[in-house]
Amino acid sequence: MLHDPNRVYVFDTTLRDGEQVPGCQLTTPEKIEIARELELLGVDIIEAGFPASSPGDFQSVVEIAKAVNNPTICALTRAHQKDIDAAVEALKYAKHPRIHTGIGSSDMHIKTKFNSTREEILERAVAAVKYAKKSVEDIEFYAEDAGRADIVYLAQMVEAVIAAGATVVNIPDTNGYCLPDQYGSKIKYLKENVKNIDKAIISVHCHNDLGLATANSIAGLQNGARQIEGTINGIGERAGNTSIEEVVMVLKTHQVLGLHTNINTKMFFELSRMVSTQMRMPVQANKAIVGANAFAHSSGIHQDGFLKNRENYEIIRPEDVGFPSASIVLTARSGRHALKFHLERLGYNLSKDDLADVYTKFLTLADNKLDINDDDLKSLMVAQLVKQ
Ligand code: KIV
Ligand code: ZN
Repeated sequence: MLHDPNRVYVFDTTLRDGEQVPGCQLTTPEKIEIARELELLGVDIIEAGFPASSPGDFQSVVEIAKAVNNPTICALTRAHQKDIDAAVEALKYAKHPRIHTGIGSSDMHIKTKFNSTREEILERAVAAVKYAKKSVEDIEFYAEDAGRADIVYLAQMVEAVIAAGATVVNIPDTNGYCLPDQYGSKIKYLKENVKNIDKAIISVHCHNDLGLATANSIAGLQNGARQIEGTINGIGERAGNTSIEEVVMVLKTHQVLGLHTNINTKMFFELSRMVSTQMRMPVQANKAIVGANAFAHSSGIHQDGFLKNRENYEIIRPEDVGFPSASIVLTARSGRHALKFHLERLGYNLSKDDLADVYTKFLTLADNKLDINDDDLKSLMVAQLVKQ
């Protein structure tokens, strides 16, 4: 069914799983603005919301479906007919609608969340897919808490929902529990043991409770999954979801994996800041790909190596993710090479002796001041010139 076996589909859930975070709620116009940017970014699927959860979420899905043309618009439901009915109604203007329905798959969820049995849950899963399929062709099924589910039961569930018409099967590590090799092995097992698995796309949906969401998503892709689910900046419940920008840049950096997406990576920085501002969720400075320090070099050894050849300390070009530029930050750990670089940038070309002299004064200043800026450098140079 896939035209290109190496194409990875990107499913963005910033507006659903990301927006569930307290304090991150968005208005419908804000959601539309983000959805339009996600369309320009090139995501394949936008999960626009959970229509049965509130009238506001219902309306947002309706408006996003009207505003966006190319990506598939997806709506979340539980395995309940009334949820599915709400999703069908909310998606009526979507050019490419998808319903994302599902139910718990781990014994923990089956027993303590649903007070049910494996057999009954399997029946409910199949019934939900069949019911949704009557109204929408594209049905994604999620096996919640698949990360902790018994693999044989999970395979049985996946096989049954594919037979019922699911086009995508989502294997969420809902609690961010798995190690990368465990999660990768789960996907491999499903690939090798589920009848008709090639009729559906396997999707990875990893949470970041142990900081492994990106690693687990990549392990899933290496074992045959072809859709990744995540959010911009990795926002989401608890420790968050997989960061889309991280997975996409892993695939771009490690071309040996042979996998590719349709993402315009140059938009990452701008979109990251837009989501952060609108959701009132700051991006940590050392966040991979989009953090303020992601391309800042501050120690003398790194600065010297970077100035000789940026590839010594740069595996991604900042411009490839829309980052303004790499920076050489001046601190008391900086070396002469970095100081010389900044002084030359300001038009000062010093002899070796003068540079040594200014460097000594610079270190004294930097030991007492966190941030050395251009004005500080100019003051140092005025003092140096007066001395001469
Ligand atoms: O984490 C999860 O299991 C989910 C599902 C609803 C897809 O977000
Ligand atoms: Zn989730």
